[in-house]
Amino acid sequence: MPLIEQYLKKHASKFESTLFEFLRIPTVSADPVRKADIAAAAQWLADLLSRLGLNSRLIPTAGNPLVYAESPPVPGMTTVLVYGHYDVQPVDPLSEWLSPPFEPTKRDGYVYARGASDDKGQLLTHILSTEAWLATEGRLPIQVKFLIEGEEEVGSAGLAQFLDSDVEQLACDCIVISDTAQFAPGQPAITYGLRGIAYYELKIHGPNRDLHSGSYGGAVTNSANVLAKMLAQIVDERGKIQVPGFYDRVLGLSDRERTQLSLLPFDEKEYWSQLGVDGGWGEAGYTPLERCWTRPAFDISGLTAGYQGPGAKTIIPRMASAKFSFRLVPDQEPEEITRSLETFLQELCPPGVRMELTQLASSPGMVVSLDSPYFDAARAAIEHGFGRPPIFVRSGGSIPIVSKLHQVLKVDVLLLGWGQEDDNAHSPNERFSLADFHRGIRTSARLWRELSRLRQA
Ligand code: BES
Ligand code: MN
Ligand code: MN
Repeated sequence: MPLIEQYLKKHASKFESTLFEFLRIPTVSADPVRKADIAAAAQWLADLLSRLGLNSRLIPTAGNPLVYAESPPVPGMTTVLVYGHYDVQPVDPLSEWLSPPFEPTKRDGYVYARGASDDKGQLLTHILSTEAWLATEGRLPIQVKFLIEGEEEVGSAGLAQFLDSDVEQLACDCIVISDTAQFAPGQPAITYGLRGIAYYELKIHGPNRDLHSGSYGGAVTNSANVLAKMLAQIVDERGKIQVPGFYDRVLGLSDRERTQLSLLPFDEKEYWSQLGVDGGWGEAGYTPLERCWTRPAFDISGLTAGYQGPGAKTIIPRMASAKFSFRLVPDQEPEEITRSLETFLQELCPPGVRMELTQLASSPGMVVSLDSPYFDAARAAIEHGFGRPPIFVRSGGSIPIVSKLHQVLKVDVLLLGWGQEDDNAHSPNERFSLADFHRGIRTSARLWRELSRLRQA
């Protein structure tokens, strides 16, 4: 057995301890109370990367710090930039977790913790594979750079700003990201498309205080009624979003891609039953996979208004608010959509209330061409690490900075996900298969080797 493989085997349980340590740091980027934990996690990563022998440093931003590290250049060889995020989503609702979100717990081959799959576990595979190379061979066969951020889950503002100023040191031949999912257990995948997103908060401001709905009901505009009605008008009964011009730039699905998607082993009945529902709903004329991967969507993520305590309390709430998003597909432009949405909502907003729309995050969608030697290297590495060649999929999720990285650095993006769609990302009881964690490390170690076979011209 090659030295590196021996090393991976020998240190498997140490790798898990490292992952658990990382998972214990509650890096919720949406929660201002977690600032110190965010700083601690960035430092923890920088220290880990330094200990491996990489040149590593923290880069402050207006938001959360970036962690940057690089190995020495290897003349004539590929340079890879690994991107990932150390921040995680909020844990709410806490009462539904079977074990505490920041006390990683091993159950049936999984580690359960917030961030296990998204993205700490996946990100760490590339750091640990690098450790294995350095510990056994003393050097990497290619140059690897790490760019790790702490604001992915809130829109990547700090990193976006950094990319406007300073990209020379990030120069590379391809970008590797493990922050997506496999197609199914035992079926690894390379993701060639991500949806974009435009995420909003909408507030409807009514009277200057909550009012008795008996005294005032029927005459005073009710902020909650207005909010419900406005939101309901965003999408029609056939699943079409009603904002004018919304579909103008949507890139249609080609017959070829449609056929490819239809050939994927997708069991619709099983899909719904796994989610505990009796079926789904979406844009007419599209299958569930087409809807999630290739079509836009409108989803309310949170609704707040008035009284929610026990029993009846009859009021007209002074304020109502919602958080919602559009998932976008190429070539929709988030800023354009925001402008037409604002006009559309203003027209629906009746007298007696005032609306306030804020965009909280946005990014365009993307599809990448698979036609490069880097993809062949990734395919070979995955076949080695997972024992099965990957299939090519799109994803409904968004990684806000990816299209900008692609634009600025002008290189291929390899989305190599080790997670599963049912890892409960963003949900209670997030988990990551430890077998996939180790397969990911093995694949990554092999990827550095495969990429070194593609000498740069
Ligand atoms: N890792 C996900 C993106 C993802 C989700 C990939 C599902 C594959 C399948 C990423 O961390 C994420 O959750 N992004 C957010 C961005 C948003 C908060 C701006 C998303 O997609 O909701
Ligand atoms: Mn992620
Ligand atoms: Mn996420």
